[in-house]
Amino acid sequence: MKKSVTTFATGKAKGEKLTMLTAYDYSTAKLIDSTGIDAILVGDSLGNVMLGYEDTISVTMEDMIHHGAAVARGAENAMVIIDMPFMSYQTSIYDAVVNAGRLMKEGRANGVKLEGGTEVAGAIKVIVNAGIPVMAHIGLTPQSINSFGGYKVQGKDEAAAAKLIEDALAVQEAGAFAVVLECVPEKLATLVTEKLYIPTIGIGAGAGCDGQILVYADMMGMFSDYVPKFVKKFANVGDAMRQACTAYVEEVKQGSYPAKEHTYAIDDQVIEKLY
Ligand code: KIV
Repeated sequence: MKKSVTTFATGKAKGEKLTMLTAYDYSTAKLIDSTGIDAILVGDSLGNVMLGYEDTISVTMEDMIHHGAAVARGAENAMVIIDMPFMSYQTSIYDAVVNAGRLMKEGRANGVKLEGGTEVAGAIKVIVNAGIPVMAHIGLTPQSINSFGGYKVQGKDEAAAAKLIEDALAVQEAGAFAVVLECVPEKLATLVTEKLYIPTIGIGAGAGCDGQILVYADMMGMFSDYVPKFVKKFANVGDAMRQACTAYVEEVKQGSYPAKEHTYAIDDQVIEKLY
């Protein structure tokens, strides 16, 4: 059965952990979907992982729609949430609702995610009022990397921790159905989780959150440009791919691939007439 905002509300109410991974293409989404995961995020991390940018700033609406629609085609049961890219919702509330609508209509999302706390509460309210589920994202918000001055843990001193709590309450009040907490000390994330009636989804925020999300290429060991402390490698798919590609190159050079079983036959009488 297709997972939805109800899955998130039920997970929080029953104390059952919610599971999320990112995906950016049809085949990966189909594979992840088959595990019974609750939701797949088409994160703007696709800028780093798929497109090779050093940050998420250059990711466009067209990128998100193109990859989002591919994931939506592969996700039969998981809720699909598509990230709103940088400057698709910060410019005006009108832009926010129009672009959220495009991710739903053209990207076939089941919900959208956007970064920020009190400052985006107005945009969240309008998008939610349009019938679009919104997942919020606070703590380390990579689209603001130039203001943060680097990928750092957030909410460490009293003022910053109080601001994080204020942001969490503001996005809940605005109607977000869940909130991602990124790079937040575990005790603070647990406190935020206890204060909210909507679920918290942690990434680098410890085990006290209502659910977890990771970038799939990180947890598969496929992306090595930068691996944050919170990433656990659940597999070494990168090594397996390198080994497979090396073996392919060698076999093609040696002529052992393709073998008889990989080729198509033709009647000898037909081929002889062509000589
Ligand atoms: O873009 C992304 O992948 C994200 C997750 C890291 C939460 O926002």
